[in-house]
Amino acid sequence: MGRLDDKVALVTGAARGIGKGIATELAKEGADIVICDLLIDDAFRTAGELQNKHGVTAIALEMDVTSDDSVAAQVREALSQMGKIDILVNNAGVPPDNFGADETEADWDRCYEVNLKGIWKVTTAVVPHFKERNEGKIVNIASIAGRLGGGMSSYSASKAGAISITQSQAAEYGRFNVNVNAICPGLLWTDLWRQIEGMFAGDHTEEVVDRRERFEAVVASNMPLAREQTPEDIGKAAVFFASDDAKNITGQSLNVDGGMRMN
Ligand SMILES: NC(=O)c1ccc[n+]([C@@H]2O[C@H](COP(=O)([O-])OP(=O)(O)OC[C@H]3O[C@@H](n4cnc5c(N)ncnc54)[C@H](O)[C@@H]3O)[C@@H](O)[C@H]2O)c1
Repeated sequence: MGRLDDKVALVTGAARGIGKGIATELAKEGADIVICDLLIDDAFRTAGELQNKHGVTAIALEMDVTSDDSVAAQVREALSQMGKIDILVNNAGVPPDNFGADETEADWDRCYEVNLKGIWKVTTAVVPHFKERNEGKIVNIASIAGRLGGGMSSYSASKAGAISITQSQAAEYGRFNVNVNAICPGLLWTDLWRQIEGMFAGDHTEEVVDRRERFEAVVASNMPLAREQTPEDIGKAAVFFASDDAKNITGQSLNVDGGMRMN
């Protein structure tokens, strides 16, 4: 028996990285999974892996969280194929292309559109279904950058916004028995972080370069546990928020960051 047997979870940005880790941990607990991502080939591959390894139903849908039409169409499609949604994980996110004083308005617009407004758009599309059923769990993936700031103001501000929208929506949707919580991941060696390392090094971000050494030094010097986080770590926290173990927890943002920020 899994903790999420008979549940259906829609996870955005789940084709790879943290989202894939979250989808995997939810599936291990018995949830059927809807993977929504721009990267549809990777999304199909991940759905296939979940089906084969964990025996759940997993489907892949091409969704752009910045597009009203795409979000509405794919939430409709998810409901038509799966019959319901119990859990929504808003994970899709992007880094800026530039750092510090070089950040551009385009960086701000993109981080805001994907990392913050994307949460609002997908949540707004799914919540009527939650209200109808008087039940639902929402988990937003923010970042430790939303608490600490740092050299990527567009990204950090979008993630502080993700923490804030979590509180507002928890207050708003509590009376419909909907819990809304956030996770603030620390540092994970995903494609997103490899792009950030490239940016720090002054390379073009789309050429994902391997700068593992610097990353390891940042982990060692900033985290009491001196251990990088993994998609599995974030997935386990998402399982907790998605389960009835957390039924009296809402509006919270949990740091999963090796102790980088204590509060
Ligand atoms: N990697 C880290 O250290 C770290 C730390 C804190 C928070 N986060 C956050 O975790 C989340 C996942 O990041 P990751 O590290 O796995 O990055 P990643 O780049 O590996 O994965 C992000 C996924 O989001 C998808 N995506 C991007 N824009 C989208 C859009 N408009 N519509 C739908 N899907 C879209 C991408 O295609 C990709 O599959 C992001 O919100 C990120 O900001 C990451």
